[in-house]
Amino acid sequence: MDTATTPRVAVIGAGYWGPNLARNFAASPEWTLVAVCDRDEARASKLAAAVGHVDVETSVDELLARDDLDAVAIATPAATHHPLTLAALRAGKHVVVEKPIADSIEKAQEMVDEAKRRGLVLMTDHTFCYTPVVAKIRELIENGDLGDILFVDSVRINLGLVQPDVDVFWDLAPHDLSILDFVLPGGLKPEYVAAHGGDPIGAGKACVGHLVLPIGDGAVASVHVNWLSPTKVRQMTIGGSRRTLIWDDLNPVQRLSVFDRGVTLESQSATELDGDAKAAAKVSYRLGDTWSPALPEREALREMVNEFAAAIREGRPARTDGEAGLRVLRVLEEATATMNGARA
Ligand SMILES: NC(=O)c1ccc[n+]([C@@H]2O[C@H](COP(=O)([O-])OP(=O)(O)OC[C@H]3O[C@@H](n4cnc5c(N)ncnc54)[C@H](O)[C@@H]3O)[C@@H](O)[C@H]2O)c1
Repeated sequence: MDTATTPRVAVIGAGYWGPNLARNFAASPEWTLVAVCDRDEARASKLAAAVGHVDVETSVDELLARDDLDAVAIATPAATHHPLTLAALRAGKHVVVEKPIADSIEKAQEMVDEAKRRGLVLMTDHTFCYTPVVAKIRELIENGDLGDILFVDSVRINLGLVQPDVDVFWDLAPHDLSILDFVLPGGLKPEYVAAHGGDPIGAGKACVGHLVLPIGDGAVASVHVNWLSPTKVRQMTIGGSRRTLIWDDLNPVQRLSVFDRGVTLESQSATELDGDAKAAAKVSYRLGDTWSPALPEREALREMVNEFAAAIREGRPARTDGEAGLRVLRVLEEATATMNGARA
C-alpha cells in the first residue's frame, strides 16, 4: 500500500447496509472510495452515482484483480462473508466485513488466521462500538462509576425482516454481544450460554429469542431479540453495585441515564456472611439522583471507517478485530447448540 496517499477502498454489496458504508468512505478524508461492487448492476450503479460516480463492478473476482485497491468493505449476506473475505485477503486487500463476521466459528477462525498470515487488517463492523453512547458506557464501567457489574438486561425488538440465511439470534444479537464484549472488562467469555428461541409463525427459524449468559462473579446478562414485535425497543440496563445505567437508544433527548440507586446488603459485606446469615441479612435501598451524561453527536460509521484506516496505517489490530468477531460467534454458536439439544 502506498502510505503517502489515502488508502483506496471498494464496497462490496449495495443492498440495505452497503450504501451507509459507501457514503462514509466517500466522505472520509482518510479514504478514497474507488468502486462499488454488486452482482446486481442496477444497485451498484445507483449507489456509485449517489456517492460521486465511482467505478461500478459486478464481479468480485474482477474487482479484486485491480491493483489500484488496498481494501474492501463487505456488506453482503452472512453466508457470503467467508468466501468473499478469504478471496479479498488472498488478493492482498485489507478487509472490513459486516457482522456477523461469518456463519460458523471454523470459517471465522480461517479468516482470522489468513489475515494474520498475510499481515493484513481484518476488522468486523460492530457498529455500536463506535457510537458515543457506547464509548461513554465503557468509560463509566472502566472508571468504576457503576461499581461491580451485577446484571445486564438488553432488549432489541421490532417488526424485523425475517432474514433468509440466519435466525433472529444471528441477525440481532451480534449487536448486543459486541457491545458487551466492548464494555465489559475482559470482554465476552461466558462459561455457558442458555438460549430459547421461538418460531410461532412457522418461518423455519427462531424469530423470537432469549439468551442468558454469565458475565463473571455471579453477574448475569440477558438478551431478548425479536422480529415480531409491533413496537421497537432498543434498551440496555447495566446494573452495578454503585450505580445503574439505562441506555434507551430511541430517546435522543435522554439516551443515557445513570441512577444513583441500588440495593445494599447491610452490616457486613455479603461475602463475609454464611448461607443462613445471608438470607437473614437486611437489604436496604439507596435512593439517589438520576443524571444524564452529555454525549457528542457523531455518526458511528464515520468512526468505524477512520478506525479501519488507522489500523492499516499503524499496523495494529482494529478496535473490533477478527478476534472480537470470533468471541461474538462463540456465544451465537453455543446458543444454537443449546437450542438444538446438543448441550445439556
Ligand atoms: N452493522 C449494522 O448495523 C448492520 C445493519 C444492517 C445489516 N448489516 C449486515 O450487512 C450485511 C448485508 O445486509 P443487507 O441487509 O444490506 O443485505 P441486502 O440483502 O440488502 O444486500 C446485500 C447485497 O449484496 C449483494 N451480493 C450478495 N452476494 C454478492 C456477491 N457474491 N457479489 C456481489 N454482490 C453480492 C446483493 O446483490 C445485495 O445487493 C449483513 O451481514 C447484515 O448483517 C449490518
